[in-house]
Amino acid sequence: MTRTVIDPVTRVGGHLRVEVEIANGVVRDAWSSGTMFRGMELILGGRDPRDAWLLAQRICGVCTGVHALASVRAVENALGVAIPTNARLVRNLLAGAGYVQAHVVGFYHRHAFDWVDPMAALRADPAATSTLALSMSEWPQSSPAYFKGVIDRLTTVVQSGQLGPFANGYWGHPAYRLTPEANLLVVAHYLEALDWQRGIIRIQTLLGGKSPHPQTYLVGGMALAPPWGGPNRGLPGEHPQQVERGSPPALSARGLTDIGTAIADARTFVEQVYLPDILMIAGHYREWAGVGAGLGSYLSYGEFPGDDSTKPALFLSRGRVMGRDLARVQPVDQAGIAESVAHSWYAYDDGGDALRHPANGQTNPSYTAPTQPSATLEGSDRYSWLKAPRYQDEPMEVGPLARMAVAYVEGQKDVRAAIDGAAASLGVGREAFFSTLGRTMARAIEAQVVARQLDGWLEALVANLATGDLALADLTRWDPGTWPGEARGWALGESPRGALGHWVAIRDQRIDTYQLVDATTWNGSPRDAQGRRGALEEALVGTPLADAARPLEVLRTVHSFDPCPACAVHAYVPGAGGPVQIQVI
Ligand code: NI
Ligand code: MG
Repeated sequence: MTRTVIDPVTRVGGHLRVEVEIANGVVRDAWSSGTMFRGMELILGGRDPRDAWLLAQRICGVCTGVHALASVRAVENALGVAIPTNARLVRNLLAGAGYVQAHVVGFYHRHAFDWVDPMAALRADPAATSTLALSMSEWPQSSPAYFKGVIDRLTTVVQSGQLGPFANGYWGHPAYRLTPEANLLVVAHYLEALDWQRGIIRIQTLLGGKSPHPQTYLVGGMALAPPWGGPNRGLPGEHPQQVERGSPPALSARGLTDIGTAIADARTFVEQVYLPDILMIAGHYREWAGVGAGLGSYLSYGEFPGDDSTKPALFLSRGRVMGRDLARVQPVDQAGIAESVAHSWYAYDDGGDALRHPANGQTNPSYTAPTQPSATLEGSDRYSWLKAPRYQDEPMEVGPLARMAVAYVEGQKDVRAAIDGAAASLGVGREAFFSTLGRTMARAIEAQVVARQLDGWLEALVANLATGDLALADLTRWDPGTWPGEARGWALGESPRGALGHWVAIRDQRIDTYQLVDATTWNGSPRDAQGRRGALEEALVGTPLADAARPLEVLRTVHSFDPCPACAVHAYVPGAGGPVQIQVI
């Protein structure tokens, strides 16, 4: 039995340490540890609730905007504010574009090199790579000359000795399976995806003012200039200088056209590059459909309201799939959510280990050094700055796989078609999705489903503006004098990485308490009072390793969750010390 520590795990959003116990070439146990203490829940105390979203979204620059949306919703829920149709559609567009961006980047720039060996790409034949690319899709950048150019760029980087993102990989590892041509193809798309981001970010910069961290959210709606007389007539904000600089007001005719163009470009890349790459890679790694299944319990709060009612239909459904049972979806009630700190560096006021609902949650940091600070967690009872969320006392997996599983069972036709199509093209059953490979495929499938829906929301927005409904915010509760002395609110929604909840209590016009439970708090959760592992920990158990000294296979499952421990801990205390010992392996 040996212990291997990966600290820090790179290509994640934040500071993550993963420790695995290995026997006979298989992971027998695992510990996921968030190693940076932050503290946004404490920082929000005493603030004006109308400012909360601006601060809350600073939790993370990778999960851009997700905490802003959750925060305004929680405050709106507390104050009883209903937002106008236009604001709902703009929020769907902002959040939806964030999904597509996050999933493409999550794969190419954080996950691909677990499957793809860029050094092997140097041996590729450009003509054969072109043949492979043309067999997969109609993406135009597929000529032999283009791929020769990519090899030349890559060779220049390697010869410079400054490898940048290509440094310190497990290149040449026996678990890499792709041909040199397949490796080259994905490396080319890795580079293209860097440029592609500029296009999709334009949706956020137009509707949100900037990226990351959009600036147009508002308790009550969105702070965007409405077009006068509808989007196609008399455009007040369209100052000639702005037009020349290429920054039309988002809701002007030109702004809406630009958003439509950005959506189309983003979708083309997802359909012609990202999804075909995932299917091609999956075909080389079919055995990974049997690895990394993990808990088998999936939770989705649901996202993208489709109407303005208090219980709107959601484009991605709310629900739970338990025990990998694709026959039915079980309900979600926010009262069922609670957090344990039994193995986290926090203490509840009562000193106990009982679960606490976030509305009564506490953030009392209580750091205890690991028993063996220089090596492993052996003997350390508490080992993470993440709390351990549980639903009705059960650990749950959240994220694209959970959402796709719930939407599939609920009969969402886009999701059904995409999953059945992917399974058929790979010759695997639906149960193959409950795996590391399935988690990675579900992310790509969701990117396609949401990319297609972006157009629908844009069309609905244009159509609604054209009716003369130009309302973007309901400000009847803007004045704190209209608020009750005490109010409580919450918001359950989804970020690209999974279920995200914010809970706020307002007293005398200020935030009294604030708690949030992020997707990675669920997935990266440490053990609970009963000693049950979190989703990532459980998924790592049983992973076969070709070379224990180079645990590439562990990274595959870690990155299949696209973890963001920065979001999961949400506080930072300079000089507080911590368990960070960098052990490079
Ligand atoms: Ni994040
Ligand atoms: Mg929290």
